[in-house]
Amino acid sequence: MYKIKTFNQISVKGLERFSREKYEVASDIGHPDAVLLRSHKLHNEVLADSVLAVARAGAGVNNVPVEDYSQKGIVVFNTPGANANAVKELVLAGLLLGSRGIKSGIDHVTTLHDVHDAAELHKTLEAQKKQFAGNELKGKTLGIVGLGAIGSMVADMALALGMNVVGFDPALSIEAAWRLSSDVQKAESMYALLARCDYVSLHVPAIKPTQHMINDDALAQAKPGMLLVNFARESIVDPQAIVKALDSGKLRGYVCDFPEPVFYGRSDVIAMPHIGASTAEAEENCAIMAAEQIMDYLENGNIKNS
Ligand code: MLT
Repeated sequence: MYKIKTFNQISVKGLERFSREKYEVASDIGHPDAVLLRSHKLHNEVLADSVLAVARAGAGVNNVPVEDYSQKGIVVFNTPGANANAVKELVLAGLLLGSRGIKSGIDHVTTLHDVHDAAELHKTLEAQKKQFAGNELKGKTLGIVGLGAIGSMVADMALALGMNVVGFDPALSIEAAWRLSSDVQKAESMYALLARCDYVSLHVPAIKPTQHMINDDALAQAKPGMLLVNFARESIVDPQAIVKALDSGKLRGYVCDFPEPVFYGRSDVIAMPHIGASTAEAEENCAIMAAEQIMDYLENGNIKNS
């Protein structure tokens, strides 16, 4: 019998993949053969010697000390692409939220809840709605930093919306390059990309080289009035540099998937609670892929990270 230790937040559809004849799956299991988790941080935990594999039901593995575990011979899996569609769709919401007066308009409507006369409400809104006018995405240039599973889907979506798309990825795999539309223009550096884009969306992992890669120097290159969208990881931007760029008008807005105290109260920042991958479909896809990776490794010794 194989033993699998799970942490909460794993879709039951993934857990159901483990046959009851061969697997015992529980959150409090002793001497597990493998660990299946989503957002739980394993940073300070020493895993039992019995553990052969850790699977993260998600794209990023920054909640797992991959190097330490690899040195102990523990295989670490993630689920690339399994939640890409969910993130892509929220990036679209981010681009629209940053371009149109959606949030301020909705907030404003709630202030009118004491106006009950329809004609008066209509008149008030007609007089006020000019302040919520925005811009269309069509015809604008979107820069995408990181052209993996999510970045390439965002590229296809933006092209379908009639945007020009510029991409940059210093570590573009051959598979990802094949997947990428030929309509995506390639920038020779991130700075060159920042200089020519009205919108920039970040899709890189949280690793040492990407730590604060969006900093004062990078933002100095940005096209004035650019909107920055970050549904990847908060550590890739320097929040103080963002504040300075917003204050100077270099950035017209910042839309992100992580609340940060430094941005509280700013109308030019829209922050969400890390919900890019929070759809029933994505949670199910990730859990199923992670469960299958574990089973294939324990039963057949295969290491398939896709
Ligand atoms: C990811 O890395 O794919 C996301 O963090 C997934 C999640 O929200 O669990």
